[in-house]
Amino acid sequence: MAEVNLDRLLVGREAIERRVGELAEQISADYSGAAAPISIIVVLKGAVFFAMDLLRQLAIPARIDFVQVSSYHGRFDSVGEVTLQKDITMAIGGTDVLLIEDIVDTGLTASWLIEHLQTHRPRSVRLATLLSKPDRRRMPVTIDYTGFVIPDAFVLGYGLDFEEGYRHLPEVYVASPRTGEPEPHRE
Ligand code: IMP
Repeated sequence: MAEVNLDRLLVGREAIERRVGELAEQISADYSGAAAPISIIVVLKGAVFFAMDLLRQLAIPARIDFVQVSSYHGRFDSVGEVTLQKDITMAIGGTDVLLIEDIVDTGLTASWLIEHLQTHRPRSVRLATLLSKPDRRRMPVTIDYTGFVIPDAFVLGYGLDFEEGYRHLPEVYVASPRTGEPEPHRE
């Protein structure tokens, strides 16, 4: 696995915990009148960490499924193509769908997924994301629930990866490629 430098802590554990709690409260309140369980669609793999912390705090009935796309291939920039790797298997027609993303960067993935989910004729589709980089947007996308708006930087941790690594870090770091120079030891 290629290594990166963790340049600085961007969002710490306490801030994540606090914000996830606030979002869970807001989402629970917004859907409290829903007649049926909402359909939560989690985007593999990055959104799993955020989704699991969020969902455990929801006070409303929910059904859960996963979707996986490839729109990003482990480099430091997104490519403009979205391919479906794993579709949902749960029926979502007529239900209120909440799509859960780790990060909205260019907006290509989220807008593609929303369009894809719409083909199942749900009652509504909303989007929740842990992170948003509005400066990078190429496709306009309405985000209903945003954890943190962040600057245009490559970030890792709490689900976000570089070549499948670093996802398990409990907080979000700004990272950069390691260029061969030996790095000082970090605790
Ligand atoms: P999009 O550009 O909004 O389509 O984002 C595509 C995907 O790129 C996201 O779902 C993430 O998996 C990944 N991505 C975008 N920015 C970052 C980042 O800073 N770190 C790690 N993954 C990222």
